[in-house]
Amino acid sequence: MNETKRVIVARELLPAGHELLAERFQVVDGGLDSTRPEVLDLARGASAIVADPSVPVDRELLDAAGDVLEIVANFAVGYDNVDLAACRERGVVVTNTPDVLTNATAELAVGLTVAAARHTSDAERRMRAGEWKGWDPSAFVGTELSGATIGVVGMGRIGQRYAELMRGFADEFLYVSRTPKELIEVKLGARKVDLEVLLAESDVVSLHLPASPENHHLIDRTALAAMKDTAILVNTGRGGLVDSDALAEALETGVIAGAGLDVYEGEPEVPERLLKAPNTALLPHIGSATGRSRDDMARLVAGNVTAVLAGEPPLTPVDLG
Ligand code: GLV
Repeated sequence: MNETKRVIVARELLPAGHELLAERFQVVDGGLDSTRPEVLDLARGASAIVADPSVPVDRELLDAAGDVLEIVANFAVGYDNVDLAACRERGVVVTNTPDVLTNATAELAVGLTVAAARHTSDAERRMRAGEWKGWDPSAFVGTELSGATIGVVGMGRIGQRYAELMRGFADEFLYVSRTPKELIEVKLGARKVDLEVLLAESDVVSLHLPASPENHHLIDRTALAAMKDTAILVNTGRGGLVDSDALAEALETGVIAGAGLDVYEGEPEVPERLLKAPNTALLPHIGSATGRSRDDMARLVAGNVTAVLAGEPPLTPVDLG
């Protein structure tokens, strides 16, 4: 064990990665219920911070760690919780966990697409509440996905995998991306279009882009109004991509037909209005939650920390610009 190097886990790292770190470093855990003051306290003198999407890694936390900090290893592919500029200024490496959660997250997005299209959450809730009175031809009548036009906003790894998986349902794929994705165009005949076109023509709009200040509330009242009233919105990206008040209103008034959400602004709070909105399938941020994916993520976190603290290049660095 390298006693001089202190690794702090702000909340929790699964054993698959934790054990690898504990063999080499002094590892201190905040625990799932760690408070901000506890994490700040824990961080003092840390060479590595293991964070997750619910841990803001800002100047205050970086300063608490001090000059010995070498790496922030995020236990997630998204890193909007990390102040990249502040890390760059301090020469701190940032890493994330791409690839290993692509299948898990894309599969969950497919599940949410079907759930929202077929109102399965509402149907199950009512049945569990003892409200099922028998087969009813007009109850929970949803949208058939076969032949649908699928709109993918953000055609990165997860967006591409989602599109591939949805191929069994869809007739047409539209996508929004900064760069053209040739492979997906050849494989699926997907067409790169402007967001306006995608919103107007898609039966499903699925969000797969990282959160940034530029795309905060990308899906706002205007965007929702541009969608078909039969369309559904799926968000497994980040809550901040969608104005949840506008979404709740769109669901209440039939501006769109349904939504499948795994992420929320201000997690773990979920706006009351969204909880009550009709035709929604809501999950508590479990996109990457398969045994394989979470274990691989934990190992990747450990691999990144180990490499950087040994003076080697990180396995999956975030580009700090
Ligand atoms: C989870 O939300 C992730 O970004 O990996």
